[in-house]
Amino acid sequence: MQNKFRLAVLASGTGTNFQQIFRSIKNGILDAEIAGLITNNPKSGARQFADDNGIPVEVINAKRYPDEGGVTAQILETLENWNQDLIVLAGYMKKLSDAVVKKYKHRIINIHPALLPSFGGQGMYGIHVHEAAIEYGVRFSGVTVHLVDADYDTGPIILQEVVPVLQDDEPKDLQERILEQEYKIYTEAIKLFVEDRITVSGRRVIIRENDA
Ligand code: GRF
Repeated sequence: MQNKFRLAVLASGTGTNFQQIFRSIKNGILDAEIAGLITNNPKSGARQFADDNGIPVEVINAKRYPDEGGVTAQILETLENWNQDLIVLAGYMKKLSDAVVKKYKHRIINIHPALLPSFGGQGMYGIHVHEAAIEYGVRFSGVTVHLVDADYDTGPIILQEVVPVLQDDEPKDLQERILEQEYKIYTEAIKLFVEDRITVSGRRVIIRENDA
């Protein structure tokens, strides 16, 4: 039997994207397995979900480890042990160190709730992203899945999905509508890696047609 494609998930918050990935695997939409969850937040919904579902968890934060160097060393060691094929950030609020990003170049993906490069970068997370989009007055926002590089939200784009901003939208409404699309597009993006259909050329991500 062939080894399953292994995912390491990093999450800090509620973890609904993480839960959706888990469900996509359960439903047979994704032919993969979750090696484990790394979280900086021991009280997160993501951690609770992992515990409830028998997924290995590593809580790695500066409280447990002496400093950022210690955190990085522990993340590197955990990833080394898990031997994953892809690292999936699902609402992970910490910046990964250069050492991690370098070692796993083109093997780390993130999801952002806007159409990058708009409404990205430091401080653009959670509800702030949607507040900014509504305040700016854009007619469309959306979702971006991208490779992770050394900066916030700047890596090559894999997939995007457009979501309209409606006249009466409060940030929460937009967030909810976008989250629905996040669940779909993240599974789709991970599937591209499972099927080995991604190559990167400079900033451009080339997706090979599915020949199945
Ligand atoms: C999502 O909006 C995702 O795009 C962003 O963080 C949020 C995580 O939400 N990176 P959840 O924890 O998956 O519910």
